[in-house]
Amino acid sequence: MTQFPRKIIIDTDPGQDDAFAILLALGSPAEIDLLGIVAVAGNVPLALTQKNARMICELAGKPATKVFAGCDRPLHRKLVTAEHVHGKTGLDGPVLPDPVMPLQEQNGVAFIIETLRREPAHTVTLCPLGPLTNIAQAFLQAPDIIGRVQQIVLMGGAYFEVGNITPAAEFNIYVDPEAAEIVFKSGVPLVVMPLDVTHKVLTTRARVEAFRGLGCEVGRVAAEWADFFERFDMEKYGSEGGPLHDPTVIAYLIRPDLFKGRHINVEIETKSELTLGMTVADWWGVTDRAPNALFIGDVDPQGFFDLLTERLGRL
Ligand code: RIB
Ligand code: CA
Repeated sequence: MTQFPRKIIIDTDPGQDDAFAILLALGSPAEIDLLGIVAVAGNVPLALTQKNARMICELAGKPATKVFAGCDRPLHRKLVTAEHVHGKTGLDGPVLPDPVMPLQEQNGVAFIIETLRREPAHTVTLCPLGPLTNIAQAFLQAPDIIGRVQQIVLMGGAYFEVGNITPAAEFNIYVDPEAAEIVFKSGVPLVVMPLDVTHKVLTTRARVEAFRGLGCEVGRVAAEWADFFERFDMEKYGSEGGPLHDPTVIAYLIRPDLFKGRHINVEIETKSELTLGMTVADWWGVTDRAPNALFIGDVDPQGFFDLLTERLGRL
């Protein structure tokens, strides 16, 4: 039986879909105790992701939320960004005021380490929504915290859906495959939200109008983010909306019953340039590699959107 509220740290590269995840967490205080948000370079550079994270907290009316800046580039590679999807600011669509709330002085990786050392073991869940650089750095700098993490629930990877940034790789894993390898080999209980499930939660017109129909600022901004964010995927896939990737992570913590998956082995390609960042998921159990992740393949899409919309309406 899940113990609520779950203490979590969100690690993020906002990103319109990251924004939905942060809003869902902030709108669900009975289930989620958000200890802090750590920004990482990903969709856009760190200077923007840390600013965007603060703008999202202020939109939610939660300026006391602690926001930290983590790593500004992958462990060993040049940063690859995704302005073609999210726009130059990373939150293109509606115009939002610059943040007034402060960025925390402490480095985000140090915050992750300090929190995991301070909180009782197995009581803090890490929720990465971008490249896994900050998590890997925390594990490299402080191996003693690895055994103290309750669970990692992350958005990343793909199997049946294959890649979205290369033919073989999903963006979050592709940007920092060495960091992903550290996380997937860490032994921490993993729940993975790959494109296989996030491509099933599409922002159809009715769902976007439900955001707008909330009649509040959060609903208006959410609808305008969706309007902007979905154009790229609708053109690319010919789908009837854009996939809201990242809020599936938070929805899983609140309503795991909405999701279905398999406990399988998932390994990360870090050598081949052709398939770099691929999540090699043994979905059919054809190897004797030990299972290390609950790999989610299915969701109740309307149940997900009903939850998301209802919680946005609370902000
Ligand atoms: O591939 C989708 C993922 O990459 C999402 O987390 C999106 O925000 C980007 O970070
Ligand atoms: Ca993201």
